[in-house]
Amino acid sequence: MDKKRVLTGLQPTGVITLGNYIGAIKQMIECQEKYDSILFIADMHAITVPIDADTLAKNIRQLIALYIACGIDPKKNTIFLQSENEYHANISWMLECNTYYGELSRMTQFKDKSKKSANFTAGLLTYPVLMAADILTYDTDFVPVGIDQKQHVEIARDIAIRFNKKYGDTFKIPEPLIREEGVKITDLQDPTKKMSKSSENQKGVIRLLDDVDVIRKKIMSATTDSVGKINFDVDNQPGISNLINIYISLKNKTKEEALEEFSNSNYGNFKTAVADVAVNELKKIQDRFNELIDNKELDDILDAGREKTRMIAKEKYDIMKQKIGLRR
Ligand code: AMP
Ligand code: TRP
Repeated sequence: MDKKRVLTGLQPTGVITLGNYIGAIKQMIECQEKYDSILFIADMHAITVPIDADTLAKNIRQLIALYIACGIDPKKNTIFLQSENEYHANISWMLECNTYYGELSRMTQFKDKSKKSANFTAGLLTYPVLMAADILTYDTDFVPVGIDQKQHVEIARDIAIRFNKKYGDTFKIPEPLIREEGVKITDLQDPTKKMSKSSENQKGVIRLLDDVDVIRKKIMSATTDSVGKINFDVDNQPGISNLINIYISLKNKTKEEALEEFSNSNYGNFKTAVADVAVNELKKIQDRFNELIDNKELDDILDAGREKTRMIAKEKYDIMKQKIGLRR
């Protein structure tokens, strides 16, 4: 039987964190074994809010290189840039004309983001339709996303169902694949908060491209407590528990194994062990990243992804035009 297709988009906003790596990328790497997987950089979604052009361009290339460096295998995934496949915007337009202003204006993300500025763009409103185009173009079965994007996959389903009803069977109805709330990595300085890309205090956040000495320093100065013993107790020892999570996720060990291993350790020794593992893992990723970032290999991967997805998208685009009546 043919493999089911999964598709996911990543917005090129800033360098990803150790939290993203442990919480999302590791699951994506598991996905690539099971599914026919399409992965793209949602750069056109990134311009729905103000972003500096050079920063955006840098983020795009970095993000692709970083994902591959983390273990996303270009042989097992089709990888491309959304903006290099012009059919997405064209298909999005046709879908927009089959989507209601009312349903878009009720989207939670739109309501939140539009509140932040008096002058938000029309793109912020139509964002979910472009996302629907991304998904529906490829007859996607599953869309792995974080819980915040679930509503957008649901509107993609609504749009597909409506279009199929009006024009006859055209799109497969996709299912969201909500990323399990796996381990949540917390901020090293305030371990009751999620480690987040947008956090203001840099000391609490490990980014995958941080200098390894900085990574070590951040872990060594992570907030702990005055208990003095290594326990997994999120309520009373959130900092230590977070470091245990980092350790076991990177080492593929169980909590029990880690607790046994560090039963006689003090916080200094324990932190050194966590720092060693993190530095070792991220150093490997960074070395591969550095090989890739200015290399033609990266462009070859993106060129191949663009050609393959443009072919698939053109087919869907032509079918849609015929059905809608956009013909001579
Ligand atoms: P974000 O960077 O918030 O857009 O998150 C992208 C994905 O990374 C989310 O869907 C989560 O699955 C994962 N993620 C982000 N931050 C963390 C974290 N601190 N711990 C675990 N997973 C995370
Ligand atoms: N909106 C998604 C996010 O911010 C990114 C995205 C764009 C996406 N198009 C997609 C995700 C299609 C899954 C499928 O995370």
